[in-house]
Amino acid sequence: MKDNVLIKKDMERAVLEKAAYVHSISNTIIPTVPVLAAVATFLGYVMKGNNLTPDEAFTIITVLSTMRTSLGVLPFAVKAMTELLVSCERYKSILLMMEMQAPKWSVADEKFAIVMNTATFSWESHQVNPTYKNKMVKQGSMHTEECLTNEDEYLSDDEHVNLTSITDHPTFSIEDITLTIEKGKLVGICGTVGCGKTSLMSAFLGRMIHRSGKVAMDGSVAYVAQQAWIMNASIRENILFGEEYDPERYNGIVEACCLEEDFESFVEGDLIEIGERGINLSGGQKQRVSLARAVYSDRDIYLLDDPLSAVDTHIGSHIFSKCIKKVLKGKTVLLVTHQLQKNQSSVSAGLASDT
Ligand SMILES: Nc1ncnc2c1ncn2[C@@H]1O[C@H](COP(=O)(O)OP(=O)(O)OP(=O)(O)O)[C@@H](O)[C@H]1O
Ligand SMILES: [Mg+2]
Repeated sequence: MKDNVLIKKDMERAVLEKAAYVHSISNTIIPTVPVLAAVATFLGYVMKGNNLTPDEAFTIITVLSTMRTSLGVLPFAVKAMTELLVSCERYKSILLMMEMQAPKWSVADEKFAIVMNTATFSWESHQVNPTYKNKMVKQGSMHTEECLTNEDEYLSDDEHVNLTSITDHPTFSIEDITLTIEKGKLVGICGTVGCGKTSLMSAFLGRMIHRSGKVAMDGSVAYVAQQAWIMNASIRENILFGEEYDPERYNGIVEACCLEEDFESFVEGDLIEIGERGINLSGGQKQRVSLARAVYSDRDIYLLDDPLSAVDTHIGSHIFSKCIKKVLKGKTVLLVTHQLQKNQSSVSAGLASDT
């Protein structure tokens, strides 16, 4: 392992060294190019038996000097071009992701926020063969589901065999889920590790493939993912997330999410820049910022995927009593947690079982 890492590091260093050499050579040569070009042009011109007059010479020198600027930016243009290609590849992978499916049904009874009737969901069951995927992309069809129903049209026999071997992997599914969640209720969801709690949240969000049954949701949704994420901006911008700044509401949420002490530890308070170029937050801080962002967005339904997992018991209790039970009072909250005492204090508790 260590040897592999060292080999990769050496390879990376060699490439970086090469790039640095090319960069410095081009930086050295480019300013001298107009002079060398002028000398070579004059020599060639005179050696062919022409008479070089001052007006011709000065015109050529002026033209070559104006080219100096465009030549100077050439290395930067090449660098920008390669960065553009890399960025395009990244955009492409995001744009080719499967569309999220919004529930097709609406809730019949107004008192319910979420209704599921013998609903079955699974994660994407087919990995697309790269050859086949390229063919589909070339033909302008990006949707995996569509690709798979029409696969025979696009594949040769060899490719078909190859694809079949890839697509036969069983994937995780949650089956026959029937539940009704009343508006304004706090519902706890617990279960063993890997039993499908996050998958259930993803099913509500339309991120899993809906295989059968009915799903209906009434209201806007805020989601706190298990893996908290942070934008490369200030903490305040991370919490506001484009919403207007209301100091009273903001401070109330910051207090409820136990972020005050963290802000005090930074010189710039909540205006401190975080992310790649700033300081990094701890896992617990990121989780609380994510929770504060969701709470500030003021939605009807809150899907909280284990937001208390990285905070200590004291902070967790504060967040539960002040934020989840008080600030989110009247909202529909689905709380995934391993802390069973929280499920006892929630109005009802669901249990995700192994499928
Ligand atoms: N994005 C995904 N694509 C494919 N399979 C997934 C995806 N996310 C989860 N799974 C699969 O679903 C199963 C359940 O995972 P899930 O994350 O829902 O469990 P969990 O109950 O939330 O676990 P934990 O308590 O560790 O958070 C796992 O076997 C996992 O491999
Ligand atoms: Mg999970």
